[in-house]
Amino acid sequence: MSGKLDFIQQEMAALREQGLLVQPRVIDSPQGAWIAVDGKKVLNLCSNNYLGFANHDVLKRRSQKAIEAFGVGPAAVRSIAGTLTLHRELEAKLARFKGVEATLTFQSGFCANLAALGSLAGPEDVILSDELNHASIIDGSRLSRARVVRYTHCDPQDLREKLRGESQARRRIVVTDGVFSMDGDIAPLPEIVKVSSEFDALVLVDDAHGEGVLGRAGRGIVDHFELHGKVDLEIGTLSKAFGVVGGVVAGRRDLVDYIQQKGRPFLFSSAVPPADTAACLAAVEILEKSGELVERLWANTRRFKEGMRNLGFDLGRSETPITPVMIGDAKLAGAFSRKLFEEGIFAMSIGYPTVARDKARIRVMLSATHSDSDLDFALEVFGRVGRELAILH
Ligand SMILES: Cc1ncc(COP(=O)(O)O)c(C=O)c1O
Repeated sequence: MSGKLDFIQQEMAALREQGLLVQPRVIDSPQGAWIAVDGKKVLNLCSNNYLGFANHDVLKRRSQKAIEAFGVGPAAVRSIAGTLTLHRELEAKLARFKGVEATLTFQSGFCANLAALGSLAGPEDVILSDELNHASIIDGSRLSRARVVRYTHCDPQDLREKLRGESQARRRIVVTDGVFSMDGDIAPLPEIVKVSSEFDALVLVDDAHGEGVLGRAGRGIVDHFELHGKVDLEIGTLSKAFGVVGGVVAGRRDLVDYIQQKGRPFLFSSAVPPADTAACLAAVEILEKSGELVERLWANTRRFKEGMRNLGFDLGRSETPITPVMIGDAKLAGAFSRKLFEEGIFAMSIGYPTVARDKARIRVMLSATHSDSDLDFALEVFGRVGRELAILH
């Protein structure tokens, strides 16, 4: 007799068979260049800890002080009784850092996308979305109940064609990742802004992987392209380069105020705790003072990518510290990742549905915490394992 939960065994077996089962490894150390994973010390090539803030002494001290001053929990959603002076201080500091009128912070970047798209778009509107946009943009778009039209990845000409047919929509909203999280390429934002302005469309950019990475001392993609005042809303995360947890929207005061009225994660989910908020404040202050960590991140990125290309690896379209090592087959990518781990390197394989079925890869993330000798070790192991598995010839 078939049971109502049989689908679970069937679907889990199918995922296992295709090499697509999600099996998180467990970390038992602070974040850093080397971490303890499943009881083994390994070189960490898969965190979003771009600048080393996740275990930075200054951030830790600020967190500890905030716990003493405010306790551990926010005790409410922000709209009722959860907004602390710390949240407002962080929002003001982020606004100054990014050169915008206002920002509003959230529990995560995912929540920031849900809040932004859920607030700005409705059933009468159309969202034009890059076909490789992050899942949180996809889910935020669904939440809005707007019609979604996908345009070809990083193709302003296709965006123009798609916008041409949408003059009847109440609002046209163009949304793109700034840096694409699985490929590491950068959206052609100046062209997207230009095309969008021809059709009076709002422009939203999700800068989760640009913040702390692109622009002056990590001010993000808008700063990188000098598009200040031309992008309606930047959406970001405090969980990657900023090293902590949280999300942010940044732009004109009236727009940000509007999202505070309408954004459901703001209205219906508890605030970020004081310790995390204080740590984020410290991260922004460090970047306001110096771009040194960002420069180190880019020096590491250049060194590693040059070495990998010389070995013969295909790094796809990457232009940033996100370095996909293209493999194709999900099972082979999984085997590569496991073999790297045996050799002391933590670099996860990524398969469907995060990337297309035949585009499985190892995703290497570089960080300012890596030393030259860490990177040389990584190159030596990648080369050896790549030849062993006949990925390199
Ligand atoms: C492009 C993009 N947007 C949003 C998010 C979500 O950010 P968070 O982890 O802070 O929820 C991520 C992270 O995975 C991302 O890569």
